[in-house]
Amino acid sequence: MSDFVSGFWGIAIALATVLGIAACFLLLMFSSRVKKMADDNSTGHVWDGDLKELNNPLPRWWVGLFIITLVFSIAYLYYYPGLGMHDGSLKWSQSGAYKAEMVAAEQRLAPLYDGFLKQTPEQLQQDPKAMAIAERLFLNNCAQCHGSDARGAQGFPNLADADWLWGGSPEAVRVTIADGRKGLMPPMSAAVGTDQDITDLAKFVQSLSGKSGDELAIARGKGKWMSAGCVGCHGADGKGNTALGAPNLTDNTWIYGGSLDSIFYTIKNGRQNAMPAWASRLSKPQIEVLTAYVIKLSGGGSRQSVAAR
Ligand code: HEC
Ligand code: HEC
Repeated sequence: MSDFVSGFWGIAIALATVLGIAACFLLLMFSSRVKKMADDNSTGHVWDGDLKELNNPLPRWWVGLFIITLVFSIAYLYYYPGLGMHDGSLKWSQSGAYKAEMVAAEQRLAPLYDGFLKQTPEQLQQDPKAMAIAERLFLNNCAQCHGSDARGAQGFPNLADADWLWGGSPEAVRVTIADGRKGLMPPMSAAVGTDQDITDLAKFVQSLSGKSGDELAIARGKGKWMSAGCVGCHGADGKGNTALGAPNLTDNTWIYGGSLDSIFYTIKNGRQNAMPAWASRLSKPQIEVLTAYVIKLSGGGSRQSVAAR
């Protein structure tokens, strides 16, 4: 009952509760007193010509229940919080019960989690218990962005393919999850030139993934690719750089989409993206099982990346 700022409501509620119980008790006393009635044991009230109200006593079982209820309510109010600010002699509270449950759960899981820390990611991937916990953690914390099947969505990378922005080694994935990542593609229109130049460049970028098109435009775009500074981040061959989170542009796997419009927009306006940090919200063993889980989803890096989404 500590939610009340002033004592007034606590007292008002305690008073209303006590008066309510007292009123119930008085009502019971009053109605069980024998009253003087007419000779035929009726109250003298008659309806519909011959319907008489008799003065029978309340059934015993009913009175008994009533008394049990009253006793129960008094005992309850003594042991549990209910009377205004009174905490109850058991000192029970919802938040206290929740905390106790959490502590108990942590103690129960501690040995299990400690065991996880002693295992390598490869061993964790073979451990059904670890993977079940990781899956639950993923659904609770990661699925809203990466999707419940981890295949991502526009702006959120697919984690179920072997294509990595920041690297798929356990070290890299662990850092990604614990510390988060910020992907920054700067707006490049100043470096590239006119909208026509940007369109040429976008066609060249599409050609990196094997899309054929206007050869002349692609050749002009390639010139821009070399001169505008794209290679500094994406590499001369366009295969990306996991140190910067610069995506591989040759694999037909896209964060934002591989259409001409989408690539044009990316080059002209840039893109910014953030993967939140989890070190403060998840424990070390939790991050460890998630690392193993995410790498497992990608087929351990052995599978080819999925085609364009
Ligand atoms: C608020 C949305 C959001 C949530 C929640 C989120 N992520 Fe991410 N995640 C992102 C974005 C956006 C990126 C891409 C960052 C970039 O563009 O560089 C990313 C990137 C990643 C990457 C790097 C992928 C690569 O190709 O290198 C991994 C691994 C990852 N997330 C795992 C997780 C896990 C595990 C969780 C849950 C604990 C999680 N994410 C929760 C938004 C989210
Ligand atoms: C400073 C480094 C940097 C430079 C320079 C740069 N990029 Fe990027 N680029 C990135 C990063 C980082 C991302 C990923 C952004 C994100 O995670 O949201 C990206 C994303 C992209 C994408 C989106 C890919 C997808 O999967 O949707 C395209 C297309 C792209 N860059 C093309 C280019 C072109 C063309 C140039 C040259 C004009 C260029 N970039 C220059 C860092 C760079």
